Amino acid sequence: MTTRQSSNLELDRETMRQLGHRVADVVAAHVASLREQPAQRSLSRAEAQRLIAAAPPERGTDFEIILSQLEERVFPYHAREPHPHFMGYIPSSPTFPSVLGDWLATGYNFFAGVWSVASGPNEVELVVLDWFRQWLGMPAGTSGLLTSGGSTATLTAVVAARHAADPEGTHVPRLVAYTSEQAHSSVQRAAWIAGIPRANVRAIDTDDEYRMRTDALERAIAEDRATGMLPFLVVGSAGTTNTGAVDPLSSIADLCARESLWMHVDAAYAGFAALTSTGAEQLRGIERADSVTLDPHKWFFVPFECGCLLARDPRKLEEAFSVHPEYLTDVRAREHEVNFADHGEQLTRSSHALKVWMSVHYYGLAELREAIARGVHRAEYAEELLRARGFEILSPAQFGIVCFRAKPRGEENPAAIDAFNERINARVNETGRFLISSTKLRGQFSLRLCTQVHRMTDADIDEVVAAIVDARSAEQD
Ligand SMILES: Cc1ncc(COP(=O)(O)O)c(C=O)c1O
Repeated sequence: MTTRQSSNLELDRETMRQLGHRVADVVAAHVASLREQPAQRSLSRAEAQRLIAAAPPERGTDFEIILSQLEERVFPYHAREPHPHFMGYIPSSPTFPSVLGDWLATGYNFFAGVWSVASGPNEVELVVLDWFRQWLGMPAGTSGLLTSGGSTATLTAVVAARHAADPEGTHVPRLVAYTSEQAHSSVQRAAWIAGIPRANVRAIDTDDEYRMRTDALERAIAEDRATGMLPFLVVGSAGTTNTGAVDPLSSIADLCARESLWMHVDAAYAGFAALTSTGAEQLRGIERADSVTLDPHKWFFVPFECGCLLARDPRKLEEAFSVHPEYLTDVRAREHEVNFADHGEQLTRSSHALKVWMSVHYYGLAELREAIARGVHRAEYAEELLRARGFEILSPAQFGIVCFRAKPRGEENPAAIDAFNERINARVNETGRFLISSTKLRGQFSLRLCTQVHRMTDADIDEVVAAIVDARSAEQD
């Protein structure tokens, strides 16, 4: 074997161009035809195993054959998050320019872990982080990093908070974290991964609107202190997954200041609503947090994966995460430079910032703000229609989420009411035309719509409500 040969994996420019264009064509055709596609299609594991060959080929395959296999056997079987009828869970509907931003970052294969090897993309990330900071009203100097998602952002914050409270790790068994019983499961999991004993993660009660009760929080902190425990962290929610509820952030900030606790806000769901004037008003208090989780891959219209952690004092991140092995001496950050590897867990990381930057520059903020505001409006419209058609609203529209249920005629048995609504949920979903999802609120089964997908219209709301009404009639008869 001679070392003078060029790589056997190299493709020439024209071939790369052609293959890239084919992929762009496939994606553009998919996105442009979403409305004609089912909102979801799934396979059992056994069916999927039958379709998808497990053994890797010893010899290469023609690109067209690879693509057609994927198009026939793989791509059809997924829930289409960006579909105008995807109204369940929390959808992600990326703009096409943001998808291209991701492709560019992948194509260039930027290593965004340290400053000097990707200073251009790293500056873009600092710029994007500073936009987010300003939108939330956090003070200058706040920064952080983009992450794979909201869960990682919250985990990073919890580790930083734990380190700030107990740098030597000698008191961990007594550290206590507080969040609400409506908080996303990632908060609890982050505490567990950070080594906080499971019994030391308190789920504080919520009020009638599913917001953390600060009186209950205050009491829990006092009780823990009285028994020698060490409260260190409160995680508030800015837009819960269930209902879109926002905890009383200003009161939580007051309490955290009085008690010297780290205040983290999980704004993965509703954080970007701060771009609208009403949203900013509803999120007031978030600017006082020590750290905030955002999730651009939810309501900022960029593709998976993209979360964000903002920390009021990024030095706290460095204190928790930076290590300086001898083999990275050459790339130690100099003054004013940022090594994102010092802000979190990953050394090798791609540039998530490009996709955000591309989308913001392509559309301008006004268009993105408008898209967010429309998502908020659509849930309000859905609530209006559902009320008019006799559904019980379990949680009114908030940040694009509305929770509701049908009351079967003459039925008072809670289990039977739940079962009736479960059947409505299944009926609406089984056609594949819509994807809606359910939750439980105060133990009651609840139907739930989430209306963030940017290509959804009021007509889509009319259609889903009609489908829900039909399902109710079919179950009633
Ligand atoms: C409120 C909230 N926080 C955190 C998360 C977790 O974010 P990710 O799935 O990006 O890790 C979610 C996900 O739905 C969420 O709704």
